[in-house]
Amino acid sequence: MFNMIKMGYSRQLNGANIIQLPKNLDRRGNLSVVEEITNIPFEIKRTYWIYDVPGGAVRGGHAYRNNEEFIVALSGSFDVVLDNGLSRTTYSLNRSYYGLYIPKGVWRQMVNFSTNSLALILASIPFDPSDYVYDYEHFKELSNKELEGSVS
Ligand code: TYD
Repeated sequence: MFNMIKMGYSRQLNGANIIQLPKNLDRRGNLSVVEEITNIPFEIKRTYWIYDVPGGAVRGGHAYRNNEEFIVALSGSFDVVLDNGLSRTTYSLNRSYYGLYIPKGVWRQMVNFSTNSLALILASIPFDPSDYVYDYEHFKELSNKELEGSVS
């Protein structure tokens, strides 16, 4: 169902993955589309976008307890660095016909934004400040507990 390219795939990153989107090409230009459940593995509750990012800026620097996201570089390029407390993987996004699925419980940063880049983010829950984990050490404790809980 999900057209996942297993780029840098690792179990530790809980299934974070690049997902290819349908691409409709014709003489008038290209059109890509995302449908909840069909193309990405969650229902979309919120959409936001990041733009006018100054050179060298770092976005993110946190994890979500429950929120899942799908990020597309609609314009330009940037890197998403994912971290599960044990290992790190960097995903470069630079095309509007694929995106990065990020499961809950993954530490993430967005870096290396090109001039005029535009990041579209689809999220699985409404905005909730209490869903954020901002402290990296706390995040590591939480992910260790999760791992212990999953080994039964
Ligand atoms: P933040 O989540 O810190 O951005 P990033 O993770 O990209 O660095 O959000 C920046 C600000 O925007 C913060 O004040 C919260 C606000 N915000 C909302 O009001 N609604 C939202 O859906 C998001 C994602 C952020």
